[in-house]
Amino acid sequence: MDGRYVSDLLQKEIVCEVSSLPCQPGLAVVLVGDDPASQIYVKHKVRVCERVGMRSKFISLPNTTSQRVLLDVVSDLNQDNSVHGILVQLPLPKSIQTQLIIESISPDKDVDGFHPYNVGRLSVGHHSFLPCTPRGVLYLLDYYNIPLSGKRCVVVGASNIVGKPLALLLLQRGATVTVCNSLTRDLPLITRTADILFSATGCPHLIGSDSIACGAVVVDIGIHRGEDGKIVGDVDFEACLPKASYITPVPGGIGPMTIAMLLKNTLQAVFSSLGRLYG
Ligand code: GUN
Repeated sequence: MDGRYVSDLLQKEIVCEVSSLPCQPGLAVVLVGDDPASQIYVKHKVRVCERVGMRSKFISLPNTTSQRVLLDVVSDLNQDNSVHGILVQLPLPKSIQTQLIIESISPDKDVDGFHPYNVGRLSVGHHSFLPCTPRGVLYLLDYYNIPLSGKRCVVVGASNIVGKPLALLLLQRGATVTVCNSLTRDLPLITRTADILFSATGCPHLIGSDSIACGAVVVDIGIHRGEDGKIVGDVDFEACLPKASYITPVPGGIGPMTIAMLLKNTLQAVFSSLGRLYG
């Protein structure tokens, strides 16, 4: 499954949608600290946002930024009418309480879908903003006409950003869902039961060919930057390729879909600010 291709298609659609709006969508991206991986992700998000005609506001703050200062930055962005979406890149420095910052973002501008208001709406099946990565995963499976209803899905990784919201979305699509975490015993025994396997741990090559069933769909949501600078996923792609019916590569799989969904969520924020429904 080629996430880069599907993301490019989506970006072309988004260019048209942006040009037909009465105002230019604005996305604020806040980065605290100098984590090299976060710097690369954030720069990429800003670049794609500008490429589709949106306005980006990139705020880079030093590692020493206090929680109070970050709360003030978010508060200013909440008030700013030219900003429709706010993204504070995670992880934040240890001195800052992540949940406090997430909860300070206006739920109407929470294009990450991390605010408890949006998490709660997702959990009862009346979602507003969906987290970008799980939304991108479902979009890609739908694009390739892979049905979820009645399927056995195994999600490896139970983070708030990916594993938990993905499991909820799969449940809502009628899948039977098993969620594994780092303490799960006999992981390959469980992953081999999956019609569709999702792995989101950041442990390189956690999923080998012995971890999947013949004909399984394998979705690699892991991302790990090796010492050589190369990006690898959770799945041993070469080993699993002959056995899987569909598989996503890293890079070029879910990563580009996540960015496309960030753009879609930003458009959704603009539409709701205009009192209109998007999509
Ligand atoms: N860090 C890793 N993934 C994400 C994401 O989707 N959003 C934010 N804000 N931070 C992240």
